[in-house]
Amino acid sequence: MTTSKEFGGTTLVCIQDCEDRAKEVLPAQEFNWYMDCADEGQTMEDCKKAFKRYRLRPRVLIDVSNRQFSTTILGHPVSFPICISPTAGQGFADIEGDKATARAAESLNTVMIVSHCAFFTFKDISLAAPNAMVWLQIHLYKNRKVTRYFVKQAERAGFKAVVVTIDSPVLENRRGMKRR
Ligand SMILES: Cc1cc2nc3c(=O)[nH]c(=O)nc-3n(C[C@H](O)[C@H](O)[C@H](O)COP(=O)(O)O)c2cc1C
Repeated sequence: MTTSKEFGGTTLVCIQDCEDRAKEVLPAQEFNWYMDCADEGQTMEDCKKAFKRYRLRPRVLIDVSNRQFSTTILGHPVSFPICISPTAGQGFADIEGDKATARAAESLNTVMIVSHCAFFTFKDISLAAPNAMVWLQIHLYKNRKVTRYFVKQAERAGFKAVVVTIDSPVLENRRGMKRR
């Protein structure tokens, strides 16, 4: 698994590095769009704190010559149990947007969940990374024909599963967007 990425002369080794780099290279409006949280960012702060409470349980004096992160998700083999969550607006950061992310998922052998608001068509994303395992993220629209349309497009593009977002019955209160 790749743990660092040469990007613009800097080796990015953690999420914070990526965030710092994004702040350097992205126009403020795009950066703020990615960083904007609902209300005071309470959920985001809570999530960060919860994540920091995770501890790895050390298991010493055991055979570590064969360490395996690989597993299966919905029967599909992945090289480690972390998928790429759906994010709209990837084209703001890079002209290749979702296509580049699909290639990353393909090369790391894990699942990419493509936002139904992706910058590219599902077909283009599949063509960019023909061996990537890609799933569709969708909302359940009041007009079920809209939902069905996205699912059909994804099916035609070879997507293998549908991930339903159920926590957005209303749009979040994003203060950054209001301040524009
Ligand atoms: C810029 C951005 C765009 C996102 N777009 C979507 C989306 O299109 N569909 C969706 O279901 N979730 C979307 N999300 C939510 C993420 O998939 C994820 O659930 C959320 O960011 C929480 O994970 P995190 O704590 O790792 O950021 C988006 C999040 C961000 C930051």
